Amino acid sequence: MRFAKLYSIPLTAALVAQAFPQVLAAEPKIPPGAGMSASTFVENQGLYISDGIRSKPDKGVPLYKQFISLNLSTAWESDAPAWTDLIYRETKDEYDGQGTMTITKDGDALIFFDDRIIHNYDIKSKQWIQEYSMNWTSHLFSGGIVTDLDTGLIYGMEGLMGRAKNHEVNPDDPWKFTEFNPVDKSFTSVEKRGPPAALDLISMVYSSVAKRIFGYEPNQLHDNKEALWSYNITSKDWTPVNATGDIPPLRSYPCFVSAYGGKKLILAGGLGIKPIAILNDVYSLDVSTLTWTKLANMPLTVVGHSCAVSGDSFVAMGGLTDWVVANDEGPAILNLTSNTWGKRYTPTPPGQTPSSADRTHLTLSKAVFVALAVSSLITL
Ligand SMILES: *[C@@H]1O[C@H](CO)[C@@H](O)[C@H](O)[C@H]1NC(C)=O
Ligand SMILES: *[C@@H]1O[C@H](CO)[C@@H](O)[C@H](O)[C@H]1NC(C)=O
Ligand SMILES: *[C@@H]1O[C@H](CO)[C@@H](O)[C@H](O)[C@H]1NC(C)=O
Ligand SMILES: *[C@@H]1O[C@H](CO)[C@@H](O)[C@H](O)[C@H]1NC(C)=O
Ligand SMILES: *[C@@H]1O[C@H](CO)[C@@H](O)[C@H](O)[C@H]1NC(C)=O
Repeated sequence: MRFAKLYSIPLTAALVAQAFPQVLAAEPKIPPGAGMSASTFVENQGLYISDGIRSKPDKGVPLYKQFISLNLSTAWESDAPAWTDLIYRETKDEYDGQGTMTITKDGDALIFFDDRIIHNYDIKSKQWIQEYSMNWTSHLFSGGIVTDLDTGLIYGMEGLMGRAKNHEVNPDDPWKFTEFNPVDKSFTSVEKRGPPAALDLISMVYSSVAKRIFGYEPNQLHDNKEALWSYNITSKDWTPVNATGDIPPLRSYPCFVSAYGGKKLILAGGLGIKPIAILNDVYSLDVSTLTWTKLANMPLTVVGHSCAVSGDSFVAMGGLTDWVVANDEGPAILNLTSNTWGKRYTPTPPGQTPSSADRTHLTLSKAVFVALAVSSLITL
């Protein structure tokens, strides 16, 4: 009845704005959280998040279409983070496309691999600047992606969709690891067998300090004890890392990001395997000693979240809190120096380096849940 009365008033924009401020507000204070998004970040600049899902990963689950940035160059509080809705570009249907994202070595553009289509997003002008298609086989980058921040080469792990014959997963099926040069668009794919086969997603990070790629993949079908792998860019080989210390329990779809220019790698949350449970634990790997140290737990258990490291701050947002429900809480911030979680983000002041600053980045694939739905590796 109250509504009827309201509607009888001539509704000028100003009146509507008075009556329904929340309707006309350009954007919610906190962006709706999504899980399994593609994301990447540039320290002291921004965390970029594309697409994702807001409910249980399954066949037919709609893609949550979004492309947003979280501003890492300015201070904010978790309940009102500085974020921006960016121009969304259509991707292929989630069951055909692969939609995974990484960054150029100078941190000036984002590169989206949408199966054979590559989109480039210019960070400064906030515009899509280029789109081209590649003549390569499907899903070469859907199992994981990473940029070598020294050479600018992009490395991609072939996803399960490219390999699974009739949706049957054979852990010893061959898989491809691809090196792509975004400048001249040349690429080479090397075929491998055995772990780390990206039967789930392999989360890859580049360490400028170690000059190599690290990959985290629990690889359940091989029943690995080791989930941490290292890729030697020269010999083009993956080897198990055999790290020591507080070894994280095996998990799928954690955040795995690099801090301090690759001196430390941070692993957070994800879907624990034994027992199956969504996790909130956080670990830091010292790359020089290959020792894990357990850090303070995240405020929420979360899987498929998006993360960034900027200076001394580890930032986690979105994801699915219990595999079914999207995490709509604002970003949570871990101060890596004091090992305490808080709600305030403070950028590193210009000219001041934290322990050692560098660009680092993370990527997850939005198509992860496709592999999951297809392979039924995990049933919750
Ligand atoms: C972040 O916020 C600062 C200060 O308001 C602004 O100058 C900058 O352009 C913003 N960056 C992005 C990527 O939105
Ligand atoms: C694409 O690759 C296939 C096989 O490698 C080749 O036969 C074909 O000519 C290529 N097409 C183009 C347009 O380059
Ligand atoms: C990587 O491989 C090259 C060539 O085989 C070798 O010389 C180098 O020592 C390897 N690096 C590491 C860190 O294992
Ligand atoms: C890690 O352990 C495996 C199996 O025990 C071994 O073959 C490999 O050489 C070890 N790698 C390193 C880098 O120590
Ligand atoms: C992290 O904590 C330390 C020690 O309490 C403090 O000095 C520093 O300012 C904090 N850093 C950030 C980015 O909040």
